[in-house]
Amino acid sequence: MKVLDTEFARDFIRMCNDGWTFGWHEANGGNASYRMRPEEVAEVRTGFRTRPWVRIEAEIPTLAGEFFLITAAGSHFRNITHDPKRTLGIIEIDRTGTCWRECWGFKDGTHPTSELMSHLINHEVRKAATHGTSRVIYHCHPASLAAMTCVVPHDSAVFTRTLWAQLAECALICREGVEVIGWEVPGSVDLAIESAKAMEHTSVVIWPHHGLFVAADDMDEAFGKAHAVEKAADIFCKAHACGLPGVSQITDQDLVRFSREYDLGLARRNVYAKPYGGAERPKASSARDAANDRPATVPMEEILRLPGAFSLPVASSAAQVVEPEVAPTPSQPQPEPTPLQSRPEPMPVQPQPEPAPMPTQPQPESASVPVQPMFEQPAFEQPQPQPAQPQSMQPNMQPQPHTASTQPAGAQPAYRFYPKARSRTS
Ligand code: 13P
Ligand code: ZN
Repeated sequence: MKVLDTEFARDFIRMCNDGWTFGWHEANGGNASYRMRPEEVAEVRTGFRTRPWVRIEAEIPTLAGEFFLITAAGSHFRNITHDPKRTLGIIEIDRTGTCWRECWGFKDGTHPTSELMSHLINHEVRKAATHGTSRVIYHCHPASLAAMTCVVPHDSAVFTRTLWAQLAECALICREGVEVIGWEVPGSVDLAIESAKAMEHTSVVIWPHHGLFVAADDMDEAFGKAHAVEKAADIFCKAHACGLPGVSQITDQDLVRFSREYDLGLARRNVYAKPYGGAERPKASSARDAANDRPATVPMEEILRLPGAFSLPVASSAAQVVEPEVAPTPSQPQPEPTPLQSRPEPMPVQPQPEPAPMPTQPQPESASVPVQPMFEQPAFEQPQPQPAQPQSMQPNMQPQPHTASTQPAGAQPAYRFYPKARSRTS
């Protein structure tokens, strides 16, 4: 079979073209790669013509013998559908995981993306992190996300919480949160290494003033993650750009309920991070709260008294949740966890009271939990240190090995690097 007739190649090209039509690939901006399945390699390898092996600047032993469909350096995404054999190619990794060679495509002397190191090393990291299911890496340059990196501190929890505060789907689709790394030179080994450290515990990495770097099992998931993050960033930018004071966003309590009802496992460090530009305890936005005539800002204690609520250590308010000495245990019998993608039962429809008219200026909710205008933080204010939190919202869950950006002491990354220039070995 011809490469361009396969389903994986067609899916890959469609993902690239979708990114182009969304405006995420100016000039040659962005790149993508797909780790082929053995049966897909078998289908097309009769058409391969191999070129010389090239030394990799790292050892990637767990990718030995793998084949990747990958974009060519300097290729414009707008041309991929029109000229796939020049803008794309397939490479093979040798049996030692230290060399690669071209075997299809790269017509007219093109070569793999300048971000090849980032792709290979991060494929290795994600392959290990997902027990082999992760196959796609997609890098794009969406504008709203880049704009957000100009004003939101580069703290991964604050950045994640700010994205989640805008759009519920972003928490659903990007439930591990995002990691924001420092600015690095595009195409550099440092960029590859910093991304790989982040990708040990998330599949969505933000390259400030540059773009998004996403890993996923398939093209739909890769594009969907990029789309959800960029859409949340776009909402953030539009809400700030309109110049009106913010009065509502998704609250910690909203996220707690969301995480519990959809079994999302949202990490507490992200849920309780303060959204940038947000109110201290912003007004709860759910219709159910309004229908039940509950105070707009629902105290955490009240949420925990709801039937089926799991036990969280709380002090007098949600803002004062403290680290427990032992793993939290449920205070009452727990409902069966909701399957990952299933939707919860719809709430019974209750007579809706007339919604209160929106105040023209944000009003304090109560003396103890004041609602502040959302967008008053000065730019580049450093995030407040967050109280130490257990790692997951899920009851009885063991702390996750990674949710912070730092490597645990003594941890050995699976990849090793040689600070060598690339050289052809034959
Ligand atoms: P390439 O054209 O080499 O893929 O580089 C584009 C890019 O976005 C670099 O980060
Ligand atoms: Zn880029």
